[in-house]
Amino acid sequence: MTIPRQKWNPDFHLDPPNQPASLHPTMEIVRLGIVGLGNMGKAHLNNIRTGKVPGMRVTALCESVGTLPALLDGEHPFTDVSAMIHSGHIDAILICTPHFSHTTIGIEALTAGLHVLVEKPISVHKADCERLIAAHTNKEKVFAAMFNMRTNATFKKVKDLIDSGELGQVRRIHWEVTNWFRTNYYYATGGWRGTWKGEGGGVLMNQCPHNLDLFQWLFGMPQKVRGFCQFGRFHEIEVEDDVTAVMQYDNGTTATFVTSTGEAPGVNKLEISAENGRLTVVDGTTIHFQRNRQPMSEFCMTAEAAFAMPESWSIQIPVDSTGGQHVEILQNFTNAILKGEKLLSPAAEGIHSVELANSILLSAWTDATIELPMSAAEYERILIEKGEASTFKKTVVKAKASADDFAKSFR
Ligand SMILES: NC(=O)c1ccc[n+]([C@@H]2O[C@H](COP(=O)([O-])OP(=O)(O)OC[C@H]3O[C@@H](n4cnc5c(N)ncnc54)[C@H](O)[C@@H]3O)[C@@H](O)[C@H]2O)c1
Repeated sequence: MTIPRQKWNPDFHLDPPNQPASLHPTMEIVRLGIVGLGNMGKAHLNNIRTGKVPGMRVTALCESVGTLPALLDGEHPFTDVSAMIHSGHIDAILICTPHFSHTTIGIEALTAGLHVLVEKPISVHKADCERLIAAHTNKEKVFAAMFNMRTNATFKKVKDLIDSGELGQVRRIHWEVTNWFRTNYYYATGGWRGTWKGEGGGVLMNQCPHNLDLFQWLFGMPQKVRGFCQFGRFHEIEVEDDVTAVMQYDNGTTATFVTSTGEAPGVNKLEISAENGRLTVVDGTTIHFQRNRQPMSEFCMTAEAAFAMPESWSIQIPVDSTGGQHVEILQNFTNAILKGEKLLSPAAEGIHSVELANSILLSAWTDATIELPMSAAEYERILIEKGEASTFKKTVVKAKASADDFAKSFR
């Protein structure tokens, strides 16, 4: 691999190699290694190089197959992630590789004493999540996940309305998130995409970890899950690209979650029916609250007219921004290492979105309702069997698309 070099800030001083991060009690900069310089790895690299994350400096890049971007001074190239992990050039690692390797690379990095930021999903299945989380034994090391949608002011507001009791008891949830449209070309340009062995799932594993993370963050985990999935309905892939899931909580609250990468124009609409009214969130940017003057169950039991309705008021709830997204998570990770700031998305919480995705698929495969917590071992066994038994032949094409095209992926 030929790696052209470019000039970087000459004032930048690298600590001597092989000096472990724990010898930096007064660390002022986090030396970061990025593994996987595909679409997302390059986007993170660009954000850090352009100074959007004060306190963080890229000092190593690792790419096993593709070509590395031109290196700046102070950046060390690697083709083997183990070599980068043990190089002494980094205090922290950002894992942007295909899903299955999140577990192996994450465990090796945590065991070597690095701070770890892992792209979503933290692992492909619940058993791997448990293994990865168990490797985080040194709690002085920061272990976070890239759930950038948690920075969105809209969803923060929805969480505030639920947690503060403003909405009252939630009775029904409906989230239709079908604006993850992807072309067949998208799947064809990544050899690992759209396969059980490479990606470990489809829309639930690649696009929806964000929504499923927000789902469990807002509402907690349901106790029963029933999933209806269609595999390769819209694309030449073997995994799911169309999903309808029904969930139930022990308190009777029910939920539906609908997603697809093949529907256009799609929609991103979250509707929450609660005692104090109905909240509608569209495209993660607007919140409308139809507020009941009296809680609906109370009205139901006390009204003395057969066809009466509770009085309700229409409120548009102002939201100031879509949040700092990936940059905010990178900054929070940096600040957690340097200043002990509280993490916005601790990696350990990433197991919940994986369990939701796994249980929807397991339900579809077995044509049964899945009780949570689900069996991690059963799911792992079936998933591995599917990968091993697969006869699916994927057409792979070399990507011509640009960073501009990739930027359209964030919906
Ligand atoms: N947070 C977000 O908004 C967001 C958006 C897109 C992708 N992602 C996530 O980022 C990750 C990567 O997705 P992508 O779209 O960039 O994929 P990609 O295929 O474009 O890039 C992955 C890169 O990793 C490299 N790689 C694979 N194994 C490696 C190894 N062992 N060592 C070094 N390099 C290795 C590949 O050669 C490839 O260049 C996935 O987990 C995906 O879910 C997150």
